[in-house]
Amino acid sequence: MPAIVVLGAQWGDEGKGKATDLLATTDTIDYVVRTSGGHNAGHTIVVGGERFATHLLPSGILTPGCTSVIANGVVVSPEALFGELDALVARGVPEPRLVVSANAHVIASYHSTIDRVTERFLGRNRIGTTGRGIGPAYSDKINRVGIRVADLFDEGILRQKVEAAVDLKNHLLTKVYNRRAVDPASVVEELLSYADRLRPMVADTSLLLNRALDEGRTVLFEGAQATMLDVDHGTYPFVTSSNPVAGGVCTGAGVGPTRIDRVIGVIKAYTTRVGSGPFPTELLDTDGERLWEIGGEVGVSTGRNRRCGWYDAVIARYATRVNGLTDFFLTKLDVLSHWERIPVCVAYEIGGVRHDEMPMTQTEFHHATPVYEYLEGWGEDISGVRSFADLPKNARRYVEALEAMSGARIWGVGVGPGREQTLVVHG
Ligand code: GDP
Ligand code: IMO
Ligand code: MG
Repeated sequence: MPAIVVLGAQWGDEGKGKATDLLATTDTIDYVVRTSGGHNAGHTIVVGGERFATHLLPSGILTPGCTSVIANGVVVSPEALFGELDALVARGVPEPRLVVSANAHVIASYHSTIDRVTERFLGRNRIGTTGRGIGPAYSDKINRVGIRVADLFDEGILRQKVEAAVDLKNHLLTKVYNRRAVDPASVVEELLSYADRLRPMVADTSLLLNRALDEGRTVLFEGAQATMLDVDHGTYPFVTSSNPVAGGVCTGAGVGPTRIDRVIGVIKAYTTRVGSGPFPTELLDTDGERLWEIGGEVGVSTGRNRRCGWYDAVIARYATRVNGLTDFFLTKLDVLSHWERIPVCVAYEIGGVRHDEMPMTQTEFHHATPVYEYLEGWGEDISGVRSFADLPKNARRYVEALEAMSGARIWGVGVGPGREQTLVVHG
């Protein structure tokens, strides 16, 4: 199974870090690759009771012998990159093998400045971004005024590109947002200060990964963000500025679609979302508060509370469709042990009409109310269970019912944050 994609099937924070880490330690994975997003991600990995969080770095960074790759589709803040690497090494993680694409775009401090002032300007219409400069960096890329990693190694080019990049922004900052202008010379200085340390890590990662696949090596593409945050397929405009769906892996890594063997959608046994935007199964009652509390639903990157709601099979089927999922990895089943009866959204009602599939327009999605089916709870702690067959009958039925309505098989189920708290349903 040489090329595996792991991605988020809902609105993020499904447990992609755990799924990636699990695959990287149980199978022999040679490369773990990030292909989109930046340090807006927050992936938690719990190893031997110790908790790690990765943001820009691939979760394979904790697996000895595995090479971590930041591919061309990622937006890289050198400050975040080295901050994260240093923090891991300070905690005793062996100096990792990390390769960064020469074509990846760079996030400089002016991108996060613009991200924050834009959000403030939008007021109650804000997206609720992570404030990490992700949108402004991708806008520059598409506007063809972005700075790429390779530019850090040619001071003349870098100076020209930074001047071009900040010119228009300074008009915006000073005349619209009433802020101080960005000094291009200090941006150049900031970026050059990382160049020497970055240079040995930089490579043509498309060539590296395609050669690895030719040699039969196993490459795991670790998703960040999620299907419903995808700029094309998510709840636009309440999305991130990249393509976290399976197709984004190909453009984000320079690997063709024919090379991908397996696409795993990570999905929670209920649903969460951070930031603004529609969320049909959101619970604004005590059930929502209990999911938040029992599930520990606080953002890894920003510390914001996540909004919580029941499982949404319409979204699961949509994720299966737009990603061509071969499997699901269902996480946090243990959190639902506290309910006697568990609602699952099987369709939407919009203006009196039942929709079994995602409606065509965002306006319809904003007005969708869930049609629920109710499944029996199991009422006992399952966090110590280690095989699917040993789950209480109603917990197995819950998983099987979700599988039947979500469009792809569920290969694994999480019953706790630890590596060992995973049950294999289909080997
Ligand atoms: P990611 O962004 O998709 O990698 O997910 P996050 O790390 O942001 O959020 C997932 C949270 O759920 C983390 O705190 C994980 O440790 C935790 N987690 C993952 N799988 C399970 C599970 O099966 N059960 C429980 N209780 N927690 C889990
Ligand atoms: P992981 O990889 C959850 C959300 C933000 C905001 C929107 C746009 O941990 O699942 P951005 O800063 O990307 O421009 O913000 O996207 N968002 C995430 N929500 N998990 C994430 O990553 C997210 N990355 C971005 O909250 O609503
Ligand atoms: Mg997360």
